[in-house]
Amino acid sequence: MCQQAAPRDVSAQAAAAPAAVAPPHAVGTNNAVAGPHLSTTDVGNSTNIRWHDSMVARTDKEMLLGQRGCVLWFTGLSGSGKSTVACTLEHLLHERGHFTSLLDGDNIRHGLNKDLGFSAEDRAENIRRIGEVARLFADAGAITMTSFISPYRADREMVRERCNAGEFLEVFMNIPLEVCEQRDPKGLYKKARAGLIKNFTGIDDPYEAPLEPEIVVDCFDADGQQRSPRDMAEQILEVLDGMGYLRDPRMPTLTAYGALQRKHSDGILDFAQL
Ligand SMILES: Nc1ncnc2c1ncn2[C@@H]1O[C@H](COP(=O)(O)OP(=O)(O)O)[C@@H](O)[C@H]1O
Ligand SMILES: [Mg+2]
Repeated sequence: MCQQAAPRDVSAQAAAAPAAVAPPHAVGTNNAVAGPHLSTTDVGNSTNIRWHDSMVARTDKEMLLGQRGCVLWFTGLSGSGKSTVACTLEHLLHERGHFTSLLDGDNIRHGLNKDLGFSAEDRAENIRRIGEVARLFADAGAITMTSFISPYRADREMVRERCNAGEFLEVFMNIPLEVCEQRDPKGLYKKARAGLIKNFTGIDDPYEAPLEPEIVVDCFDADGQQRSPRDMAEQILEVLDGMGYLRDPRMPTLTAYGALQRKHSDGILDFAQL
């Protein structure tokens, strides 16, 4: 699985680095003082900063790992199985020798995002931070999974736009509210129905289902039976494999970044046009 990348002439690489390596948000320069200085820029409240190019190229890391970094963004109601299926998928990938990272909603709220609540504003900041962290992992070559309700389309689109083409795969856990409410593993729906929790997604806060998710995970099989987490994880694994994420990036792939054909009915991507 792991192939050692050839040693690189780092100085030559840096010299040859295209300007496009700089992130899209690093616009404008601060060149008020004349002199042989490197130009800097302002991004948000961060002044006089300069993007430092990666010493080891992303593709070299991906070749080492035999996979392509990506962000699998699980979204769905509380209790829809985001954590369970993402966790099952992570184990399946690990067993096959893949380097993964799983950022889970509740876990991240124990640390990085413990200062955030559940207002629309805080939810947006929660997603923004997770998106940025997920991008860093993907940039290091990891098959990165995130499991957050992420109920608002605009917040998810914000993350998608921050990712490179083909790097962001939205995984919609298409589980009806009734099923989630019946599972209610943490008793949260019961509390929300009783008015003890406010702003609960699906009850008194909206969930905006994705319009064009790359992968749709349906609740029921053809016989109307609830599918198992393993079955769902295997569906996603198959898509990842088919799209070339689980192979050395030098190998021919079935698809090209930025040319994803989406098919909603069965969650399988259609390569016929590629
Ligand atoms: N595909 C499934 N079939 C049956 N039960 C499931 C399935 N996925 C999840 N569950 C159960 O539903 C509950 C909620 O899952 P969880 O992964 O915590 O949801 P979320 O992370 O979306 O809030 C758990 O008790 C889990 O065992
Ligand atoms: Mg969860």
